[in-house]
Amino acid sequence: YVIGVDLGTSAVKVLLVNQQGQVTQEVSKDYPLIQEKTGYSEQAPQDWVDQTVAGLSELIQQFEGDPDDIEGISFSGQMHGLVLLNENQEVLRNAILWNDTRTTAECQQIYDTVGKERLLRITKNLALEGFTLPKILWVKNHEPEIYNKAKTFLLPKDYVRLKLTGKSNMEYSDAAGTLLLDVMKKEWSQKICDLLDIDDSLCPPLVASHEAVGTLTPEMAEKTGLSSSTRMFAGGADNACGAIGSGILKEGETLVSTGTSGVVLAYENRGDKNFQGKVHYFNHGAPDAYYTMGVTLAAGHSLTWLKDVFTKDKTFDQLLEDVDTVPPGANGLLYTPYIVGERTPHFDSSIRGSFIGMDSSHEMKHFVRAVMEGITFSLNESVQIFRDQGKRIDTVISIGGGSKNETWLQMQADIFNAKIVKLSNEQGPGMGAAMLAAYGCGWFETLRECTEEFLQEEKTYEPIEENVRRYQTLFGLYKRIYDMTASLSA
Ligand code: XUL
Repeated sequence: YVIGVDLGTSAVKVLLVNQQGQVTQEVSKDYPLIQEKTGYSEQAPQDWVDQTVAGLSELIQQFEGDPDDIEGISFSGQMHGLVLLNENQEVLRNAILWNDTRTTAECQQIYDTVGKERLLRITKNLALEGFTLPKILWVKNHEPEIYNKAKTFLLPKDYVRLKLTGKSNMEYSDAAGTLLLDVMKKEWSQKICDLLDIDDSLCPPLVASHEAVGTLTPEMAEKTGLSSSTRMFAGGADNACGAIGSGILKEGETLVSTGTSGVVLAYENRGDKNFQGKVHYFNHGAPDAYYTMGVTLAAGHSLTWLKDVFTKDKTFDQLLEDVDTVPPGANGLLYTPYIVGERTPHFDSSIRGSFIGMDSSHEMKHFVRAVMEGITFSLNESVQIFRDQGKRIDTVISIGGGSKNETWLQMQADIFNAKIVKLSNEQGPGMGAAMLAAYGCGWFETLRECTEEFLQEEKTYEPIEENVRRYQTLFGLYKRIYDMTASLSA
């Protein structure tokens, strides 16, 4: 057996996976989000550790086999969150998370000091509020007494791994989201540290995702009930692990994931391309590989919002039950999902969403369909960027909440004009983490062999010509709404 730990934003999910890739047990433990001011989003790192330990311990209590048969554990984690530690590896303040947007001035500071061209050349990414470096600068600018005590910084899952193993390090796929990594050279950027007056000793040692980083400390072995010989592997960023867990491991393979936020992700075998920051460009969790990614901030979040505001008493299944009776185009209703701003392609945290074309005959089901279409149009903007860069996108693996609904899967095929594949045993990033442990333990020669063994296709959805044409016209209109509404939120 191996265990995949997926440290998400609302909960940690712990998966026990056997040698055939079956999830034989699963435990989830949640923790709160701390939002003291508008735009702030924090968590207490101790909550992650406590709940991970509680999850592992519950899993072991239910496990009927011998804990010695659990050979390895690896991790997937929410990206970008800043954990600052003092010289005794104690947490100095709450972690500032990926969806915290307090750092607009620090992003500007990065552009003014490092320069956009240089930043893109080294880190391959733009300065976005969610990334880690702006958060480090925010603490430096606003809480110097805390910053001055900091001896190292870690990302969320790396902190949990530190507490489990006693070893402090960070792996490349998450380090790529800090804006301090030279993504192609896979080393910390001395230049960026120097320009921003950040002591480079804050940056922890770097390891590869499948690298063994130690074993459980005796205290943690005792608390979880796991064997102290279980090997711990570094793991990866949630998006990198989502890619591994869906088998996105060679050129031409593309993933769409619709959770709270939505992602379109494509494998890249080179780290020296220039996407001009139009999409994120990060190190993969697979050795010597990369991926590019576009993000829609409010994907599932748009539907949750619609449900909470207009039909609170309905379940999600009830909300979606009659969308298939509404034709493509939602009888003229169009939605843009910018309710918390947008990343790809606008990188605009102040834009807000819209419904256009309302008619007195529209019912709730038209609004639901329009929201699903708007989310998918937004994801299609990322698909378009990839195509404009010369990528072929003929087949897309669909995972997350959106892949649970047949109408939505067909809609993705029609809007992306690509074949959509649904996997039968999709488990998202937690499975990617388990695969890194399986590969690290030597069960397979390559990660690809592991995904071939572990994953099966359940069903495919082909684009329907008539719908493709209808959506192409609507997508043209959709793209114009951003400019027309940009000044509304200014
Ligand atoms: C990626 C990003 C999110 C988080 C969510 O850039 O901010 O996908 O990784 O956990």
